[in-house]
Amino acid sequence: MLASRVMAEEQQADFLVMGAGVAGLRAAVELADHGKVLVVTKEAVAESNTHYAQGGIAVAMEGEADVTLHLQDTIAAGDGLVYEPAAQVLVAEGPLRVSELIRWGAHFDMENGKLQRTREGAHSLPRILHANGDATGAEISRSLAAYAQAHEGIHFAEWTTVTGLVVADGRVIAADMLDREGTARRVGARAVLLAAGGAGQVYSDTTNPAVATGDGIALAAEAGAELADMEFYQFHPTALSLAGAPRFLLSEALRGEGAYLRNDSGERFMERYHPLLELAPRDVVARAITREGMGSEPGLARVVHLDMRHVKGIDLHKRFPGISAELARYGLDLNRDLIPVRPAAHYLMGGVRTGLDGRTTLRGLYAAGEAACTGVHGANRLASNSLLEGLVFGARAAQSMLADGLPHAAADAPAPQAARLSASEEQELESIISRLQHAMWMYAGLLREEETLLEGLAAHAACEESLSLFAQHSRGTRRLAEAHAMIRVAHSILHSARARTESRGAHFRNDFPQRDDAHFQKHSVLQLRAGGEESVSFEVW
Ligand code: SIN
Repeated sequence: MLASRVMAEEQQADFLVMGAGVAGLRAAVELADHGKVLVVTKEAVAESNTHYAQGGIAVAMEGEADVTLHLQDTIAAGDGLVYEPAAQVLVAEGPLRVSELIRWGAHFDMENGKLQRTREGAHSLPRILHANGDATGAEISRSLAAYAQAHEGIHFAEWTTVTGLVVADGRVIAADMLDREGTARRVGARAVLLAAGGAGQVYSDTTNPAVATGDGIALAAEAGAELADMEFYQFHPTALSLAGAPRFLLSEALRGEGAYLRNDSGERFMERYHPLLELAPRDVVARAITREGMGSEPGLARVVHLDMRHVKGIDLHKRFPGISAELARYGLDLNRDLIPVRPAAHYLMGGVRTGLDGRTTLRGLYAAGEAACTGVHGANRLASNSLLEGLVFGARAAQSMLADGLPHAAADAPAPQAARLSASEEQELESIISRLQHAMWMYAGLLREEETLLEGLAAHAACEESLSLFAQHSRGTRRLAEAHAMIRVAHSILHSARARTESRGAHFRNDFPQRDDAHFQKHSVLQLRAGGEESVSFEVW
């Protein structure tokens, strides 16, 4: 706990930042000299999706030609849907933001006085910086948190869940939150930034930590902001596939350093799917693994392996210390063993619709990082572009919050009081969540079609009904707020996936296997209407 400046009693901040990952912390630093900043995070500051990012941060530090290549790779990976102005901002402002981060204390791996760079899927050259081998996110999170803590103006509310946004006269003016003890309060703010990350927990198989339940996205939708591109969920190709073990991420950097993928006959199969083989775009590799893993029965009956046994000339344990330690827990060694892998939900390209400046469609509300959708990733994010996105668009969103100069507005209605759940209620809630997660994996996973999406919607409706019955007698806990958020986000994914009757990037429909530029070279925009109905339309940006 950041005991120095925990804002326990304060009911007002100038700027409220939800989320303490790279986007939230970068924004907080930008805001710090201009008013009181409150960073709200569900657990300790270190526990964010950012912390778990392994492979690195993609950045073009070698001048204009390098930046242009990074732009081209980002656009190509996005499968015809990258909003180019956003990608231009990302690659052009990225080097400045990374240099700044290094000045603020982030240590990236060096060799002979130069930054080490690795390659990942769909990058035309090695441009991924990494830290402590495979712990890049942890280093970025550590250094930014330390830098933020040094600012007097930044306060932290750890172990605190935002449960609602308060809207008055079409503007967000406050947020309701619950602390660890279950005490509710309402905090007014001149501007609110959603930087609460993604929603991998909507799926039963995910590389994301437990905090990634889509809270910011759900809150924004419920407050009336538009969402975009919610059908595009990126499945990382290589999560550890062992019964009973979590889907631990096996970084794409392993393939960047030469790892092969082999099917259960020992065949290297990627040549049947893409000329870039194991370094093809992530969506292509994830689907190839799924197809190779399918037996005659539904599900992944055949095991696909990652193979590094042939890789010579690098010390794998030194290069990948975190991954090596995790594998050792299961008796596996990169030098000696084939490592069983399968895809898992990893990153949401969609999110709260924003412009290049972090403004959402609702006044007073801003979004950045994975919670936001600028269109920068199109239909499929280029590997290791997400930490850069958080830095670049976190700073930009903060600049807009400052530029807009909104005044404080009265938000004095008391927030509802919280209650605790009994053990049996907790169990009932977990069972609803788990039903939802499995339905999403089964029906809205890597390969979808009308029939599965309809089954998904039916399963979703059943979970939603159970949750609303549950909520009639049990109120106001973090887990209940997370369940509501997952229900909202899952519905947006299902609904948007049904509307996009084509295949593009991470969204693959068995019943519409081709890309259809004539109808769908557009971003989906989802809005929640009064009464809970969602509408999806398609727009050219
Ligand atoms: C990885 O290390 O493979 C994950 C990096 C990313 O998601 O871009």
